[in-house]
Amino acid sequence: IKSEPTIFFLFGGTGDLTSRKLVPALYNLYIDGRMPTHFQIVAMGRTQYSNDAFRDVLLKDIKQFSRKRVGQAPPETWDQFAKHIFFQVSDINNPQTYQEQSERIAEFGKICSGEPNVVYYLAVAPRFFSTIAENISKFKLAANPEKARIVIEKPFGHNLESARQLNQLLGGVFSEQQIYRIDHYLGKETVQNILALRFSNSIFEPLWNRNYIDHIQISVSEQLGVGSRGGYYDESGALRDMIQNHILQLLCLVAMEPPTSFQADEVRNKKVDVLHSMRKFTAEDVKKNAVRGQYSKGWMEGQELPGYREEPGVAPDSNTETFAAIKFHIDNWRWHGVPFYLRTGKRMHQSSSVIMIQFKDVPHLIFPSEAIEGWQQNRLIISIQPEMSVRLQIQAKRPGLDMTLNPVDMIFDYNGTYTGDTPEAYETLLLDTMLGDQTLFMRGDQVEAAWDLVMPILNAWGGKKSISFPNYPVDSWGPETAESLIAKDGFHWFTLPLKNSRK
Ligand code: BG6
Repeated sequence: IKSEPTIFFLFGGTGDLTSRKLVPALYNLYIDGRMPTHFQIVAMGRTQYSNDAFRDVLLKDIKQFSRKRVGQAPPETWDQFAKHIFFQVSDINNPQTYQEQSERIAEFGKICSGEPNVVYYLAVAPRFFSTIAENISKFKLAANPEKARIVIEKPFGHNLESARQLNQLLGGVFSEQQIYRIDHYLGKETVQNILALRFSNSIFEPLWNRNYIDHIQISVSEQLGVGSRGGYYDESGALRDMIQNHILQLLCLVAMEPPTSFQADEVRNKKVDVLHSMRKFTAEDVKKNAVRGQYSKGWMEGQELPGYREEPGVAPDSNTETFAAIKFHIDNWRWHGVPFYLRTGKRMHQSSSVIMIQFKDVPHLIFPSEAIEGWQQNRLIISIQPEMSVRLQIQAKRPGLDMTLNPVDMIFDYNGTYTGDTPEAYETLLLDTMLGDQTLFMRGDQVEAAWDLVMPILNAWGGKKSISFPNYPVDSWGPETAESLIAKDGFHWFTLPLKNSRK
């Protein structure tokens, strides 16, 4: 499906997101024939770029960051695409900026003979959101709710209070159907597949509940540190940066009830129900069921890396967590008594995002203990990245004259099943923005419910009392306390052995 004519205004047009993600994603959509016949990409920024100079800058970015390489498409493709890109020298505080936008929209409307979609993409720091939204309102740039859309990048608020304020502010200018809150995890192919796996197959649903599932783990580990984002991250931490959004969204997809249709609000209603059913933490729960960590310096792949407190932009006595592990419960009929263990961290041993659903053990074992070479309760493993796969771990008889059992995997591996590369999350999300499909975007109440859930933990961790950080070295699986969080329930954190993994 192609969308209607669209004009994009990229606030933060000279920023990292524009060059690494947004323009490469639009370029790939263009090559795939998914951009409308009429479109304009207007990058906004204070640098005095001419259109041509800016297009040259973007060409370099495309060469570096695009999934599809320049050169993979016919040589004239880039030139044709580049004609749709413009640079608007602008200042978000200056009324002239919005006046000029208004003129551009009118001009573009003439070219495509009709009212185009207008997308305001706020790839800027949150402190600029209100100025931009208020001016969009003042200059009546979003008057048609069917056409004008605003895209907001995370972080959506710093806590429940600020998220509410931001929702109110945006709600004063835009209706909910115009607001696209990005959580890029929802655009990932393997994340979208969770819905397909659960709701287009009949074999999983009967087992997908407390009667058959023992516990669930969601683990997002990164080898990366905070890099050049120390300033942002030090005010944020793992709970805000990853758990409040990406990981809770994964949990919602795993735990939600079946929606009655694939309508955006149907799906989002069911997800928000999960957040509302999650058990709120007391101060005591935080001590028992939430663990935090911060990395110290160490070696990774032959390179000595600084500890978190030595990273640029980070306070030398920072108590910000770069690792968090939390045990949640969902108080509803489906999940009563099934623990959900979430963990995420930076500078960990492996970069991988995996959901592991462990089923209950067999009720009675008929095989003698000598027959059991390895025993593993059945598991469904949804590997989001870097391996893109779904594995069902079952017990099987090892070929041979004896009855010997060991666990094996039934594997659906994207690489083996599909040819061609996979669209990036931003391609899906930008296309959906043009098409007006909000299924993969966060609704305002969802964001608030997620904040509400993490607030008791944030409050407990934000206290002045210092903690003995750092408490895990670079290239590890986090602090020991994370292991005991799950070990005391008789489980271990699951890790998927990666191809080419060193250990
Ligand atoms: C971002 C976080 O939202 O997600 C980063 O701010 C994190 O800290 C990133 O590294 C992870 O995304 P991905 O797609 O690389 O798993």
